[in-house]
Amino acid sequence: MITLALSKGRIFDETLPLLKAAGIEVLEDPDTSRKLILPTNQPGVRVVLVRATDVPTYVEYGGADLGVTGKDTLIEHGGQGLYQPLDLKIAACRMSVAVRADFDYASAVRQGSRLKVATKYTAIAREFFASKGVHVDLIKLYGSMELAPLTGLADAIVDLVSTGNTLKANHLVEVERIMDISSRLVVNQAALKLKQAGIRPIIDAFANAIQKEPSTS
Ligand code: PRP
Repeated sequence: MITLALSKGRIFDETLPLLKAAGIEVLEDPDTSRKLILPTNQPGVRVVLVRATDVPTYVEYGGADLGVTGKDTLIEHGGQGLYQPLDLKIAACRMSVAVRADFDYASAVRQGSRLKVATKYTAIAREFFASKGVHVDLIKLYGSMELAPLTGLADAIVDLVSTGNTLKANHLVEVERIMDISSRLVVNQAALKLKQAGIRPIIDAFANAIQKEPSTS
């Protein structure tokens, strides 16, 4: 049995066409089913639904043989023990710094002030501000980061931006783009050796599908 870990939402939806290219069709809709293990048209392949941040952990420890996870999640996890053969170019967005429209970020950075930064992505934020030589106090949050500058909890946030609508709706502006983000295929290294015959064709089919459709991002 080959087990693929996916998270509900964009990653699940945008992985479906790649699975189809590999001849795999998920037989239940995660939006209507409450099952966490979804069968596919191939008796030897199943999908498990996990929280996005848990995908690397499932694959690292062999709870799943392979998975699809954002570059953001992968960096925060550390990526240890994971074979990362493909950038799938799906669920594309960017990691950015945002502040209140009335906050003078450029001056704060120039003057060497200590910035209070709220984020779910502490590893990425720490590395980014360290590389700029900016001193920061990091405040770990688990969601709704846009609230932090509005309530005085932080001067800035580091968060994912896709359309920019969430920032706009909360009167925040993007002041720095840290990196482009897309989803990666990750594979358990032991599974890759032990289940070559099942896993290789999936990796190859995904790779072919991406080449045919390079601009999904
Ligand atoms: C992300 C991110 C922003 C939003 C940005 O949240 O945290 O809140 O998307 O998208 P936009 O630029 O298109 O408005 P997501 O929906 O992934 O959920 P999360 O809050 O759990 O991270």
